[in-house]
Amino acid sequence: MTSKRNLPFNYFVFYKTGLLCYGNQNPNVSIHSKSSELPFGFFIYFQLQLRIEEDHQMKLLKEEILSKGIVLSDGVLKVDSFLNHQINPILSLEMGKEFVKRFHSEDPNTKVLTIESSGIAPAFTTALELGVELVFARKKKSLTMNDNVYTADVYSFTKQETNTITVSKDFITESDRVLIIDDFLANGQAALGLAQIVEQAGGTVSGIGIVIEKSFQPGRQVLLDAGYKVESLARIESLKNNEVRFVDETVLV
Ligand code: G4P
Repeated sequence: MTSKRNLPFNYFVFYKTGLLCYGNQNPNVSIHSKSSELPFGFFIYFQLQLRIEEDHQMKLLKEEILSKGIVLSDGVLKVDSFLNHQINPILSLEMGKEFVKRFHSEDPNTKVLTIESSGIAPAFTTALELGVELVFARKKKSLTMNDNVYTADVYSFTKQETNTITVSKDFITESDRVLIIDDFLANGQAALGLAQIVEQAGGTVSGIGIVIEKSFQPGRQVLLDAGYKVESLARIESLKNNEVRFVDETVLV
């Protein structure tokens, strides 16, 4: 039975149990606690539970990156075997579910927008999960497209080329709340171009979901500075020494 007198003890138990459970599941976590922090026991316990769930959900993606990703240089990761050339459909479905969870809001998303080609698979599963349509921006205007289009110039620092991306005005309107999804975030230019297109249409960008973020490049900050919510399923801190290191968001001091 819980009495008021027992509360500090319960906080302590929750706090320690939380840290223990969390530590067991996350061997890389380093944990230090002070007695003055104990009143925050419940809060920390539930925060940790949420974090454990999040980590668990994208475990499959991290495992694929670690087992099948090839580090080509300090700046480039090859993931052709499950994302950029051959596609893992189970993983893609999980990504869609995770994006929908992370961007859940009272105002429903009405469209998903991505850019051809590798963004299409995770954007498709996200749209399927949301029950809305997916639009993909074209990098080259198709034969059947007329001039009734929105365009944005996207410079790629990686490829050192500019693409004028195009979306038909028929598919994004001012009543749309649009979730943008892409496979990689490096410098943020593709996502910014997609957001510009939504804004030209008078629609609202509800957020930007990324499968693999290279956190050592400026893309995330560029998008945050522009005022967008950004969620990445895997965040890579470094590709140095031929090794993938993920951003550790879980260290408590
Ligand atoms: P940015 O949009 O964030 O500014 O990225 P950037 O222009 O630098 O990247 C251009 C292209 O290179 C994009 O693909 C992007 O997905 C890809 N890219 C960037 N860094 C990496 C990396 O480390 N690994 C892999 N595999 N791709 C990377 P794209 O030209 O649009 O190709 P696709 O979507 O047709 O496959």
